[in-house]
Amino acid sequence: MEWKTVNASGRKRVIVTKTLPGGRWLEILRDADCRVEICRSDAALSPDEIRSAIGSRCDGAIGQLTEPWGETLFAALKAAGGRVFSNYAVGFNNVDLAAATRYRIPVGNTPGVLTETTAEMAVALTFAAARRVGEAERFLRAGKFTGWLPTLFLGQRLWRKTIGIIGAGRIGEAYARMMAEGFKMNILYYDLRPNPDLEASIQDLGRFLESRGEAPVTCRRTEGLEDLLSQSDCVSIHTVLDASTHHLINAARLSMMKENALLINTSRGPVIDEAALVAHCRKHPDFRAGLDVFEDEPALKPGLCDLENVVIVPHIASATGWTREGMAVLAAANVGAILRGDPVWGQTDITPFLGKALPHAAPSIVNARDLGLPMVQGQRGRSDSMGTLYP
Ligand code: GLV
Ligand code: GLV
Repeated sequence: MEWKTVNASGRKRVIVTKTLPGGRWLEILRDADCRVEICRSDAALSPDEIRSAIGSRCDGAIGQLTEPWGETLFAALKAAGGRVFSNYAVGFNNVDLAAATRYRIPVGNTPGVLTETTAEMAVALTFAAARRVGEAERFLRAGKFTGWLPTLFLGQRLWRKTIGIIGAGRIGEAYARMMAEGFKMNILYYDLRPNPDLEASIQDLGRFLESRGEAPVTCRRTEGLEDLLSQSDCVSIHTVLDASTHHLINAARLSMMKENALLINTSRGPVIDEAALVAHCRKHPDFRAGLDVFEDEPALKPGLCDLENVVIVPHIASATGWTREGMAVLAAANVGAILRGDPVWGQTDITPFLGKALPHAAPSIVNARDLGLPMVQGQRGRSDSMGTLYP
């Protein structure tokens, strides 16, 4: 494995398991007196490879969602004098938080810069699936377009239909608002906690539409998942992956959905039983799915790739330059701040970290409370990026 060292004279050693975009994140680590060692390989590193990169002295690490940061790696990091880890992602299902907390290692993530970007990809997948964009493009590129036809690629009209949001954290809320504000869709959502901000914004939009003599839009939290699945024309998943949401969408739940419904997933692959989805899509050609994430990523379940009614993209929902550079800034700021002994930001709005003057705080440490780390300010509003469904 080839590694590149930046700021070799830095007194704290930080390893970064992938090249990150932009240059600001490196300035932040340099300002925190860090020597930064970056793995230049695109291949996913194994725990053994990461352990040998940690070596006998390592103050901090920035890791990827493709790496299992658990007991083994946190033990190695602690033994090497490590004091902080940041995931380069908002989701942290690849991190064993309990193990990190046992070793008293703060775990950072990168919320706030992915919200709208990920929601926009969910919108793109929704319409690509509804209007059969992938299928139609393959047809055209194959030279099969011989002229306009009244019946060519008839899809689904979504205007004023019903969207079901599974997990109304910040990403689910952003997607719901895009679909209601743009396409006047009614919102159902399923989440452990009510989202009063989402409900209020849709209510205000409804009143605005009524003031113009148009029909309002509505927003309702459903008691159960079945209620949401059976009534929605499009279901979009925005929940965390944990034991309670693994295979949340299985054969039984798929059969509760309308036969011509859409299912969109930009959260984590294992929330859907992908083999059951393949079987369902085979049996119901008018059912359509738009997927950014997969159960055995990067592998796809047999048959998925052959289905015309499924749109698939390779886990790129957060892939814009602005977002990926912002994620790098937040991951570096997490590591730099903890190594300097700064407190945790503790606020939902992380935009101050994107400006020139970096706040003296770690933007987001998910086990801050468990570790009793000092906070700059208390949390306001909905702080979870991906909604939680079960206690
Ligand atoms: C991407 O999937 C992320 O969790 O940041
Ligand atoms: C279709 O292209 C139309 O003009 O109706």
